[in-house]
Amino acid sequence: RRKQISVPAEPKSKRVSLFCSLCLSATFVTQILLVCALISLPECPPLGLESHRVEDDQLLASSQSHHGFSAQRGRLNMQGSDNDEDLYGGAWCAESEEREHWFQVDARREVEFTGVITQGRNSDEDFVSSYFVAFSNDSRDWTLLHDGYAEWLFYGNVDKETPVMSQFATPVVARYIRILPQSWNGSLCLRAEILACQLPSYENEVNPSDDLDFRHHNYKEMRQMMKVINEECPNITRIYNIGKSSQGLKMYAMEISDNPGEHEPGEPEFRYTAGLHGNEALGRELLLLLMQFLCKEYNDDNPRVRRLVDGVRIHLVPSLNPDAYELAYEMGSEMGNWALGHWTEEGYDIFQNFPDLNSILWGAEDRGWVPRIVPNHHIPLPENFLNGSLAVETKAVITWMERNPFVLGANLQGGEKLVTYPFDMQRPPISLTDNRRWRNNGALRETPDDAMFRWLAMSYAHSHLTMTETYRGSCHGDDITGGQGITNRATWKPVVGSMNDFSYLHTNCFELSIFLGCDKFPHESELPLEWENNREALLSFIEQVHRGIKGIVRDIDGNPLPNATISVEGIRHDVKTAVGGDYWRLLNPGEYKVTAKADGYTPQTRLCMVGYDSGATPCSFTLTKSNWDRIKKIMALHGKRPIRLITKANVVKTTAASTVAAPSIDTELENPANTHDIARRRRLRLMRIRRLRLQRLQASLRTTPATTMTTTTTTASTTLPPETKRTTSWYDSWFPVDEWSTENPFDSVVFDSVPTQDYPFEYTID
Ligand SMILES: *[C@@H]1O[C@H](CO)[C@@H](O)[C@H](O)[C@H]1NC(C)=O
Ligand SMILES: *[C@@H]1O[C@H](CO)[C@@H](O)[C@H](O)[C@H]1NC(C)=O
Ligand SMILES: *[C@@H]1O[C@H](CO)[C@@H](O)[C@H](O)[C@H]1NC(C)=O
Ligand SMILES: *[C@@H]1O[C@H](CO)[C@@H](O)[C@H](O)[C@H]1NC(C)=O
Ligand SMILES: *[C@@H]1O[C@H](CO)[C@@H](O)[C@H](O)[C@H]1NC(C)=O
Repeated sequence: RRKQISVPAEPKSKRVSLFCSLCLSATFVTQILLVCALISLPECPPLGLESHRVEDDQLLASSQSHHGFSAQRGRLNMQGSDNDEDLYGGAWCAESEEREHWFQVDARREVEFTGVITQGRNSDEDFVSSYFVAFSNDSRDWTLLHDGYAEWLFYGNVDKETPVMSQFATPVVARYIRILPQSWNGSLCLRAEILACQLPSYENEVNPSDDLDFRHHNYKEMRQMMKVINEECPNITRIYNIGKSSQGLKMYAMEISDNPGEHEPGEPEFRYTAGLHGNEALGRELLLLLMQFLCKEYNDDNPRVRRLVDGVRIHLVPSLNPDAYELAYEMGSEMGNWALGHWTEEGYDIFQNFPDLNSILWGAEDRGWVPRIVPNHHIPLPENFLNGSLAVETKAVITWMERNPFVLGANLQGGEKLVTYPFDMQRPPISLTDNRRWRNNGALRETPDDAMFRWLAMSYAHSHLTMTETYRGSCHGDDITGGQGITNRATWKPVVGSMNDFSYLHTNCFELSIFLGCDKFPHESELPLEWENNREALLSFIEQVHRGIKGIVRDIDGNPLPNATISVEGIRHDVKTAVGGDYWRLLNPGEYKVTAKADGYTPQTRLCMVGYDSGATPCSFTLTKSNWDRIKKIMALHGKRPIRLITKANVVKTTAASTVAAPSIDTELENPANTHDIARRRRLRLMRIRRLRLQRLQASLRTTPATTMTTTTTTASTTLPPETKRTTSWYDSWFPVDEWSTENPFDSVVFDSVPTQDYPFEYTID
């Protein structure tokens, strides 16, 4: 029982024909007929100059001003490179010495031309303001388009960016079309798109294998579509929103999972987001199509989809920038320009609007502070991050990222065709003043998980039907992916504060950017083809969430330990357990030494294998409590007041001695003036432990009576000022800020020789 999901829609043509039948009933029939003919002309889709469906050898021009401004650059929304001297200009530009100018498109077969769209040059105020149009079937004999009296002069552009459409009175059947510029502003430069319908005899229709709703959906239609899907698949879907845009539109999310609404321990969470830039509309539609597909196929018992939905909690957010999408949608798929709808209403580019944690991490790395002082993962938000310029949409995304233990995600963008992986920000070289360490430039952009990120990027690019067909170059220049369809973002176009870098450094989630194609807002007729191109890639990328190891960290009583750290030897990037004590660590096949650490527990290390088969390798941990935690608890219990530590031997025999000794130490140490100096207290705490260590050392060297040890303690305290200083620097460089470290330094260093790792002392409180 296949049920089609469709939303009632009112096609444009219906409205037009209704209007026309009204027209016809009017008295001045002939004049109106002409108007009707113009209106009811079928809206033909673009031939594909912008999308690159029209290939370079289909474009030809009378001349070119410079080798960087060939006919091949004359595609709608072509972006020039910043360097004027190189091959990639932002338009076709004619050689000014020539007398005749034309720009020609070969449709390769006879088609019905219905109009042209023109645009100026991407960088300068160069544009064509009027032109003729001519047609040919053989590219030798040309027929100029007449308007009944003379050659039809079309009015072109008035600025460099805004596309202007001219439609013909009737469709013209031909194979070749030429635009003949007659007047222009600045240099003669042009970017264009051609509108044409394929003749009925030509069967080029993509017959999508899936029966889905291949249309663009504005805000209301998207909401309606999601509602329909939810009604169709109530058991596996849930609609929620992650926040509101600055104009008050909701950022809707669809969760697809076997138990929607809850995080099941052991089930990884995955996210696709789209529409960070409102005019990059393909990702939005692909996610709406993916929702429909998953729902339908789940109901039809497709085993692969069942496995996916049952084994992953999938979140799909089609529109992160709904305000800007509405702007772009109103202009339509061809008539917006490259930038319209890119930013939020408040002017932010959401993708690069996240707090820059890279600089914090790299700065700390340069000082040798990672991971002791600054962690290599879950870097906290800078204190003043809300102070800065943060879009409301970005804030919503950050909150959403923090709320769910995402493992893997991708944001769908447009304007290029490739997958990029972090780092997205370029690491600056260490300053010249520090000439001891000059870093190798090649290493500046890699995350510690570079191999995994490359694999993830490949898994999308190579499952996509055309992403690795890079022999024709990229959308706007050379292929920079080496034929792989993937690149490191910082190597390509570095950005600061990207969503991907933030996700990697602030959460567990590995996030990539998928650029779906040259045409940011493809015509509706392209959607079936784009779905075919991307369907397998979208699915297999989700399946990568199962690559690596996963498990649960528990204490010996079986209670899950949230917020435990999972480190993999050789990869300087940890992950943390979720609320249920569960974790996922994406890893390529191999053998890994994995350590689980939690505050107050003794770390545990295991060897875990990742195979080539699908499915994450289970690798769980059971941690035992360490005494360090006990000590901290006791300290907390007593308001962090200094605790005098006495060796066991002392307790029974020399309680009196110690109680006498203690005040002397404390009065000496605790200058009443800075009783509130917490740092000082911390140092004291450490001093005591150091002293204890000394005592133990001495005790093990020569069996000294307990009383002597008390004396040693007092002696140590007399040499306090220099000792304090030394201790402080040793301590601060090694274990300075309690909050940052989950490790118990004394497990590994101080009591290395103690087999039980149990501290053999009692405590008393002043
Ligand atoms: C091209 O050929 C078709 C017939 O195949 C004809 O209808 C059309 O007018 C021709 N176009 C031109 C520009 O000659
Ligand atoms: C081209 O147009 C711009 C404004 O649209 C104008 O400022 C400029 O002077 C024009 N250039 C020429 C050469 O006419
Ligand atoms: C949803 O689940 C209920 C109970 O498990 C079941 O009876 C019902 O058929 C399911 N509905 C759909 C649409 O699968
Ligand atoms: C926020 O910015 C203002 C002015 O830029 C500054 O005075 C203030 O100290 C900042 N607050 C925080 C918490 O950084
Ligand atoms: C998680 O652990 C870190 C230290 O590793 C600590 O600073 C943080 O407060 C903990 N978070 C929670 C929610 O317990």
